[in-house]
Amino acid sequence: GARLVVLASGGGSNLAALLAAHDDVAFGARVVGVVSDKPAAGALDLARDAGVASVAVAPADFADRAAWNTGIGEAVEVFRPDWVVLAGFMRILSPEFLARFPQRVLNTHPALLPAFPGAHGVRDALAYGVKMTGCTVHVVDDGVDTGPIVAQAAVPVLDDDDEAALHERIKVAERSLLVETVGRAAREGLRVAGRRAVFG
Ligand code: GAR
Repeated sequence: GARLVVLASGGGSNLAALLAAHDDVAFGARVVGVVSDKPAAGALDLARDAGVASVAVAPADFADRAAWNTGIGEAVEVFRPDWVVLAGFMRILSPEFLARFPQRVLNTHPALLPAFPGAHGVRDALAYGVKMTGCTVHVVDDGVDTGPIVAQAAVPVLDDDDEAALHERIKVAERSLLVETVGRAAREGLRVAGRRAVFG
C-alpha cells in the first residue's frame, strides 16, 4: 500500500478517520508517520495510541522559518511517503519543502475553494453570508489554498449556525471526503495537468 505521512496541528479528527481506514487493506494506504508543528497537538496522542510513529517539529526550535522548513522536510522524508496529507496543519510550507514531494502533498480545507482560503475558512464563509459552503481536498502548490482541486463536498449553512456548529458539520463531510480521496489517489494515482487534477 501507499505510505502516508499526515501533518496536523490540532485535535486530529481527520487523522483519526485515516487511521480508522488504514487497517483495511482495500484502502490501499497506511499512515506511516504523523508530524506536527505543535508538541501538544492531540494528533500526536492519536498517533501514539494507534502505534504510528510521530514527531513534533516546532518552529521555536529553529533559527528561522527557512530552517524550520528544512527540518520538517527532513522529518517527513525519513518516512519515505508516497503522499503527504495536511489534515488541520495550520502553517504555510515553503517551496523548498514542497519540492521534496512534487504533486504529492494534499490538503483538506474547510470551505469550497477558491472561496474562503486561509486560516478562517469557516468564519469567513459565515461572515460573507453564503448559504452553501463545504470542504475541499486539493494538491498543495506554492500559494495559500490555491492548488489544483481534487475533490469537494457541499455543506449547507443553517440559519442558526455559529462558527463552531458549522465547522462541526463540515468536519463530518470532510472526514469522509478525505478518506475517500486519499484512498483513491493511493489506489489509482493522481495526475495534475495545469489546474486540473484527475485520478488515474
Ligand atoms: C479541519 O476542518 C481542516 O480542514 C482545518 O482544520 C480542521 C482540523 O480538524 N484546516 C484548516 O483550516 C487549514 N487552513 P482536525 O484537527 O480535527 O482534523
